[in-house]
Amino acid sequence: MPSSTLNTVIEDLKGIVGERWVITQRELMESYLRDETPDPVRPKPAENLVLVKPSSTEEVSLILKIANDRRIPVFPVGGRTGLVGGSVPTEPGIILSLERMNRIEVDRDNLMAVAEAGATLGELIKAAEDAGLFFPPHPGDEGAQIGGLIATNAGGARAIKYGVMRNYVRGLEVVLPTSEVLWLGGKTLKNNVGYDLMQLIIGSEGTLCVITKAVIRLFPKSKYMVTLVIPFNKRSDALKSVPAILRSGVMPLAVEYVQINEVLEAARHLNESWPVQRGFAQLIIILDGMSQEEVLGACEEISKICEANNALDIFLAETSEEQSRILRIRSNIYTALKPNMVDILDVTVPPSRLEELMDEVDAIGSKYGVYLPAYGHAGDGNLHVHIMKDAGNEHVAKKIKDEIYEEAIRLGGTITGEHGLGKIRLENLQMVLSEKHLDLLRSIKRVFDPNNILNPRGL
Ligand code: LAC
Ligand code: ZN
Repeated sequence: MPSSTLNTVIEDLKGIVGERWVITQRELMESYLRDETPDPVRPKPAENLVLVKPSSTEEVSLILKIANDRRIPVFPVGGRTGLVGGSVPTEPGIILSLERMNRIEVDRDNLMAVAEAGATLGELIKAAEDAGLFFPPHPGDEGAQIGGLIATNAGGARAIKYGVMRNYVRGLEVVLPTSEVLWLGGKTLKNNVGYDLMQLIIGSEGTLCVITKAVIRLFPKSKYMVTLVIPFNKRSDALKSVPAILRSGVMPLAVEYVQINEVLEAARHLNESWPVQRGFAQLIIILDGMSQEEVLGACEEISKICEANNALDIFLAETSEEQSRILRIRSNIYTALKPNMVDILDVTVPPSRLEELMDEVDAIGSKYGVYLPAYGHAGDGNLHVHIMKDAGNEHVAKKIKDEIYEEAIRLGGTITGEHGLGKIRLENLQMVLSEKHLDLLRSIKRVFDPNNILNPRGL
């Protein structure tokens, strides 16, 4: 697209959203040009961009109409907390931020929230809480926005008991790149009318349509919640405990695996203290339930299993401050490591093969003479391996990444469990999808977006 094309629509965009909400000065859009992807692998933003902030679905539709007519790329952005460059505007065009569309209404009778795409995760958690309800998952940063959480099918730590974002979405309002507005699903819990376009859109990373509103399922507030931190000397003992816990009938909200170096570094980074100072390998388990008796019974069961697997201690946090601190420190391992990081991987294997995968990752690290910090959502078999700057150069980092991908696939897994493809994982797609599969995906993209204007990224 010639840059003059973009300039000709600026007045039209101002006519739609008002002059104040069309930003053309680069210095005022800096934070919209990146996400949380580590610098060395984050895609570069394009030069000629305009940032537009609509306040309604109708305005979104009018913007897309102009963009589609003039073949101008549009990059929908949320809270820009992604880790794979998914929302980075890599071609001259329009950055579409839905931050002004942030209303949330809670429907207590149906245990659902109707949230606009620009509302944040923090706002949704609070709205649910104010209504005496609970939004269980915690996909990291609370500045993430609803539209982005759905577009990326976000996961996070508390996905074991009720699943990832996909399991919460009941309805969606979306605007197609060709400007039509669609309502998919709704407040029903059952819906069996043909192909499920809503599920197709969840996780489509802003490439098929712009999500403007969602119906999100909530749950009753748990009356009682505890967090356990369980240290082990050996990784194998910690990981062996996980399937045994899940088989026992106890259903935790989260089962996280961390290693002491990284979790202590995250605590230092936040200037907080981590409650358990010993044990190379640690499990963090969050449990909730309707009564203290029920939850403590589950703790008892978990303690028995872990002690049989040589746990060194069972640390139990009961106050909400302490539990929040543990989750905050866990959620900040990435932030603490980020300055020295080249890339964060998100490989996922069947949960029972996690230990094998971690051993392979160690072997790859030794082969290249680097330490590869790793931790993850053990209950989901989802491992975050960090390639740090000690890998030396881009070429070596890429080789390490490719070898870890190969191992994950060999173990029956995949290259990304929660972070998605964004713009930096596409180059590895052929490792997991057949040419026919890719063909079908390309055809779907063309049906939704015949002019390839929405978050264009190639496939
Ligand atoms: C986490 C992010 C990096 O699990 O996905 O902390
Ligand atoms: Zn994660």
